[in-house]
Amino acid sequence: MSDTLTITDNRTGKTYEVPIQDGTIRAMDLRKIKTGAEDFGLMTYDPAFMNTANCRSAITYIDGDKGILLYRGYPIEQLAEQSDYLETAYLILFGELPTASQLQSWTREITLHTMLHENIKKLMEGFQYDAHPMAIFLSVVGAMSAFYPEAKNIFDKNSRLRQIHRAIAKVPSIAAWAFRHSMGLPYTYPDNDLTFAGNFLNMLFKMTELKYQPNPVLARALDVLFILHADHEQNCSTTTMRTIGSSHADPYSSLAGAAGALYGPLHGGANEAVLRMLHEIGSVSKVPEFINKVKSGDGATRLMGFGHRVYKSYDPRAKVIKKAADLVFAVTGKNPLIDIALELERIALQDEYFVSRKLYPNVDFYSGLIYQAMGFPVEMFPVLFAIPRTAGWMAQWGEMLLDPEQKIARPRQVYTGPKQRDYIPREKRS
Ligand code: CMC
Repeated sequence: MSDTLTITDNRTGKTYEVPIQDGTIRAMDLRKIKTGAEDFGLMTYDPAFMNTANCRSAITYIDGDKGILLYRGYPIEQLAEQSDYLETAYLILFGELPTASQLQSWTREITLHTMLHENIKKLMEGFQYDAHPMAIFLSVVGAMSAFYPEAKNIFDKNSRLRQIHRAIAKVPSIAAWAFRHSMGLPYTYPDNDLTFAGNFLNMLFKMTELKYQPNPVLARALDVLFILHADHEQNCSTTTMRTIGSSHADPYSSLAGAAGALYGPLHGGANEAVLRMLHEIGSVSKVPEFINKVKSGDGATRLMGFGHRVYKSYDPRAKVIKKAADLVFAVTGKNPLIDIALELERIALQDEYFVSRKLYPNVDFYSGLIYQAMGFPVEMFPVLFAIPRTAGWMAQWGEMLLDPEQKIARPRQVYTGPKQRDYIPREKRS
């Protein structure tokens, strides 16, 4: 049996054979299917990339039906249990778990690059007090392109590595300063004695104490959340990262675009939307009424934190987060909204509307409850997502640049506008 697909074009009666590789056919192979010499050739029409692979990638594997997520082959549950964010970031970026000495030098590089240029303060100060921290975050990440102009040497391996160190190390500092700005607090400098997550908590929450002591349970919970969010193959923001990067822009310009994509409520803004939804529902007794609103609407009201383009079963990340919530609540006290969330999940998982559409809790359903219990305002939630996703974005960007099959991303369209027509002088238009 040959790995080919035979296509008969009923317009012409001609038959074509196209190779099948890795469960895909090449869209360009369809171009030869024509009705005549003038015909451009057959294209595929796939709005929102529902069934189109746009790259080969060795970074993250998802089996959406079975609820499996692997980074470089390692199950997310094992990494969340046994690894930490910096080690996981190394794995995602370089393909293998680091040896002890590799991890030591990687951690040292990241720790050395956590400082931000002092001029970034001025940039931050230009924002209104009520600016959304994600808007500040993506602006400052984009501005790094101006601070590090050598980053445009994208085919220089050392430069790429330097930008990886900078990006991973500086995003927590940018995020923390964006938070402090919105709170009217002075910006806090990094403390290199602390872990990645511990230092982030320090930059966020240090007040007048000489040395900030992060709570180890909260620091670990945050680190686990970072592991869970580090990559997720070709999602909206990663596709944006690859698309901008494909024009050979510097990585900070690409990161700013990726962060912009992540800002949207259907992507990284979803956990913010979940919290707003839980507040709006207000009490466990109102849950059935809300579920009915979701079901009877025309898609205007969605159960936020439910459903996923790829997962058609329980998101494995949501399972880990649900467990982490209990550990965090033991320190912070229970977030009262958890009862509403649990009731929503209980009802939705047995309701025909959600069951038939395979809508299950995704990573964002419980993460916001943890973040809120830890003292983060909802506006910070997408920023907390962007910090670890920077590892995935940078890894996917590097993979794209070195892939000989990749070119500047440039989809085709099906044109639906008017045919060519002559310009009408203004006085003759009715
Ligand atoms: N609540 C109610 N109905 C839903 C939901 C939901 N959350 N999600 C999908 N549906 C329905 C949708 O109305 C459609 O029904 P019908 O077939 O009757 O028209 C059906 O399920 C299929 O939905 P879709 O919009 O075609 O699915 P999609 O793959 O385009 O959307 C999604 C995926 C994540 C955007 C969507 O499920 C959603 O909007 N969820 C809520 C937002 C959310 O939680 N986003 C976070 C995603 S995970 C984090 C990340 O990776 O960024």
